[in-house]
Amino acid sequence: MELPEGLITALENAGKVLVLTGAGMSAESGVPTFRDAQTGLWEKYRAEDLATPEAFRDHPQVVWDWYMDRRNKIREVSPHAGHIALVEMEQYFDSFALVTQNVDSLHQQAGSTSVIELHGNIMLSICSETKKLIDETWLRSNPGRPPASPHHPQGLARPGVVWFGEELPQASMSHAMAEAYGCDVCFSIGTSTLVQPAASLPFIALNAGAVVIEINPLPTSLSPEAHFSLKATAADALTTIAAGLARRK
Ligand code: OAD
Repeated sequence: MELPEGLITALENAGKVLVLTGAGMSAESGVPTFRDAQTGLWEKYRAEDLATPEAFRDHPQVVWDWYMDRRNKIREVSPHAGHIALVEMEQYFDSFALVTQNVDSLHQQAGSTSVIELHGNIMLSICSETKKLIDETWLRSNPGRPPASPHHPQGLARPGVVWFGEELPQASMSHAMAEAYGCDVCFSIGTSTLVQPAASLPFIALNAGAVVIEINPLPTSLSPEAHFSLKATAADALTTIAAGLARRK
């Protein structure tokens, strides 16, 4: 793909970079997004029927089985060239913070060093009452759908993700906000920019004077505001940008 004039120069002049990613970043690895027509998870299921504490309280087995199915699907996929390009790009900047809404660990698998998970991690299990992490060995020796929790008599094991209506991990969100206020360039990649508070991060960066680069085949509320809005896939745009940076160095 052709990069717009000035994009690589803006990156060359940058010291601190913030990258925000959403489900679209994992799409080319085969992980369904949430809202893409016909293919998105929320097309088939109502989020409130599966991704809320109330749904888990009322239908723990249904919710647990759905997340185990998603875990198994995620175990079968691997990072794509776009994930790898982000790892390569890290070396060109003083700081490179990667904030993700994704729960699939694909950035970590690709080798990204500083990943901030805003919505948790689907591979982890926590106690439904205390939110304490539950060790895999306990889950293996105490099977169930879902297993009981070792941390609380009424507790059940639940996926370590943030459900609708739940608070984001405070430390992660404060760290992400600080990066948004302090970055020179902010990437917004593969997110519909609909779910708060993550969706506010590129706008905070914009208002703090950063150059904002959006990568998304479809328009979002950020598109008219971004300095560069690349109507492309994550893999295509990021491999082109990484190659452009490598040529300049
Ligand atoms: P969405 O499913 O809302 O949006 C995915 C975005 O990725 C859409 O704007 C697509 O156009 C874009 N997209 C699709 N394929 C792409 C590709 N190959 N390259 C680049 N972009 C692509 O997912 P999120 O914005 O991540 O929260 O959703 C935010 C949150 O809502 C999720 O983290 C989840 C969900 O409910 C929780 O579960 C708490």
